[in-house]
Amino acid sequence: MKKALKWLGIVVAVLLVGVLGFYGWATSTASALGERTLESHEVDFPVPFPLTDEEVEVLRAERLAVRPSDSEPPTTEEYAAAEGEPVPAPAPAPDPLEGVDLDALALERAVARGEHLVNARYGCTECHGADFSGGEMINDAAFAIILGPNLTAGEGGLVADYDMADWDRSVRHGILPSGRQSAMPSGDYVLMTDRELSDIIAYIGSMDPVDNVVLAPTLGPVATILTALGKFPFSADLIGEHRHDHVANPPEAEPTVEFGRHLAGVCTGCHREDFTGGPIAAGDPSWFPAANLTNHEDGLAGWTYDDFVTSLRELRRPDGSEIRPPMALIAPYAAEMTDTEMQALWAFIESLEAQPTGL
Ligand code: HEC
Ligand code: HEC
Repeated sequence: MKKALKWLGIVVAVLLVGVLGFYGWATSTASALGERTLESHEVDFPVPFPLTDEEVEVLRAERLAVRPSDSEPPTTEEYAAAEGEPVPAPAPAPDPLEGVDLDALALERAVARGEHLVNARYGCTECHGADFSGGEMINDAAFAIILGPNLTAGEGGLVADYDMADWDRSVRHGILPSGRQSAMPSGDYVLMTDRELSDIIAYIGSMDPVDNVVLAPTLGPVATILTALGKFPFSADLIGEHRHDHVANPPEAEPTVEFGRHLAGVCTGCHREDFTGGPIAAGDPSWFPAANLTNHEDGLAGWTYDDFVTSLRELRRPDGSEIRPPMALIAPYAAEMTDTEMQALWAFIESLEAQPTGL
């Protein structure tokens, strides 16, 4: 009996040393991975983007339409009053845009576009809070505590000294200004254009300052082990390439395949680059496999535009069945999309060649 206890003790001790050793290895490996610094390119762009020539022309035409023309010929009465005197040449019409603050207008429009981008497409508020003063990404002591930092100008706000290269690194590359990898999943933002990022920065800048100091991310035991084993990768590592050029302007907001392809960039994280769906690699293991969105019999063959809109906004298929999580995450964004955006998305999806579902 004593001997058995002794052996049990030894076994427990060995296991304990093994577990502690493994955990020690995991902790140091995870922190070494987290402490690497990565380089990315330097970019620059204006906030806000100035009005385009076309926008300025539209504005000029609008102002001219509401203003009585200064250059009308003199009336008969004016001729009579002038009694043969030479009629003075009409004064040159002042520029209809005189006194219009084009910079203020550009900012106003940028903020409005940024608000739409956040609410209909990019979902920053999900983790940073509706007023950008901070929120939660993951809050589970055993797994990890990863909070979305305060991005307002209040105390605890982290972006006060950001230049455009810092914004680019943080949002589109998953790299913090210090060069360390960010815990933010930036994969969905890689294809964001300069103007979209600029618009979002303008919108964030329009938020009231809120004082809120948010704790930096900490990994619990589960995330530490998964990170060390490479199963909870940083998005900067997944993105891999940090020097590729960014596109300056998004495609025109028209119901075209091209604009739809751009909008569908945020669907690929789950439905994959080729939209054939299948198990979601970077997702919560409890999520159902993503649906095949190509024109295949296992995909969306036979769907109409209305079926598509209902599926995204009401989470119902044409046969009445319910579309399950995590598509519910998408519905609030789909509700904010304009008809043009929905039509463009559908034009793109309809154009996808039929392919069997991904494995
Ligand atoms: C899924 C949650 C999530 C979403 C969505 C998200 N963020 Fe983040 N973001 C985070 C987390 C977590 C951090 C902190 C990362 C760290 O410190 O490692 C962060 C950090 C940042 C930072 C860097 C702050 C610093 O540490 O200096 C910026 C800037 C930022 N986010 C902007 C955005 C913008 C803009 C969007 C939308 C386009 C967005 N985020 C969407 C979770 C998110
Ligand atoms: C977070 C992961 C995720 C994202 C992001 C996502 N989807 Fe889905 N989607 C799914 C999953 C999972 C299903 C299957 C749900 C089920 O089996 O009930 C699905 C189903 C669908 C369906 C229903 C098709 C069918 O027969 O089940 C459509 C349509 C769809 N997604 C379109 C989109 C579009 C368009 C986008 C981008 C705007 C998008 N999804 C973004 C995960 C996602």
